[in-house]
Amino acid sequence: MLLRASHEVKIFDVGPDTGGDEDRMISIVRDADALISLLDNPVTRRVLSSCPDLKIVAQCAVGYDNIDLEAAEERRIVVTHTPGVLTDATADFTLALLLAVARHVCEADTYVRDGHFRRWETLLLHGMELRGKVLGIVGFGRIGQAVARRALGFGMKIVYHSRQRANPTTERMMSANHVSMDELLTASDVVSIHCPLNEASRHLIGASAFSRMKSTALLINTGRGPIVDEAALAKAIQLGELAGAGIDVYENEPIVHPGLLEHPRVILTPHLASATVEARTAMAAMCSEAILATLGGNTEIPYRLV
Ligand code: GLV
Repeated sequence: MLLRASHEVKIFDVGPDTGGDEDRMISIVRDADALISLLDNPVTRRVLSSCPDLKIVAQCAVGYDNIDLEAAEERRIVVTHTPGVLTDATADFTLALLLAVARHVCEADTYVRDGHFRRWETLLLHGMELRGKVLGIVGFGRIGQAVARRALGFGMKIVYHSRQRANPTTERMMSANHVSMDELLTASDVVSIHCPLNEASRHLIGASAFSRMKSTALLINTGRGPIVDEAALAKAIQLGELAGAGIDVYENEPIVHPGLLEHPRVILTPHLASATVEARTAMAAMCSEAILATLGGNTEIPYRLV
């Protein structure tokens, strides 16, 4: 609406199921002045250099690992994203997955639907209580800290590993301890991933991480799929090196490793963490505002990446 009032807007579906490759991107964006990109659109050097009029890429997501920022900067193309407005939605969803895995919510639902519920049973589907358990947060930015605040309400203890250490007040308020990745893996009852995807974090959680984690531990990933080696996760779950996982993001979306599909202690959701009416409306507004500002000659956008 905001954009349509003053600009011609064309909407294309470019995803893995619609041939979402570079060539298709180029054929669509070639003559555009502005692009609203989604996290599975390849905004590569080749795409950017094929669009002579492009002035801004407004990424409708907080993560931007699909965009070649260096190439955009070289071509003086503004890139923005949508930090802040999806923090609560993502943190809520992380806790939803954590509780669902810890308390077998999906297995219990299937149990009832399949007609197995005959009476109250003392030994049915025992789960893990959160009070007193250690939550290891990998990546302690806006979303990691929002997850910590919620987990504190459940009585969890917080340890975290992050490129940048939080300020002392934040650490004190959350009784959060900054630890090495190794300590986080060995100490945590739940490991939750909230760092960005980059070369340092790709496959950060793989076979060696699973061998260090408690066999009773749970893994929650609402960050980016490739941070976890999915084949190693499937193997760890099958071998009982890990008690369960809640996974919202995948290595090769929308493909899911068959070993995860089979396992009842793994809850799988389709990259939904920011999917609230509030967050998605605010994300769309931020993209529109960034485009209007840039095309109007104002590139002082607070959530500009380059
Ligand atoms: C969602 O995954 C996002 O990065 O906003």
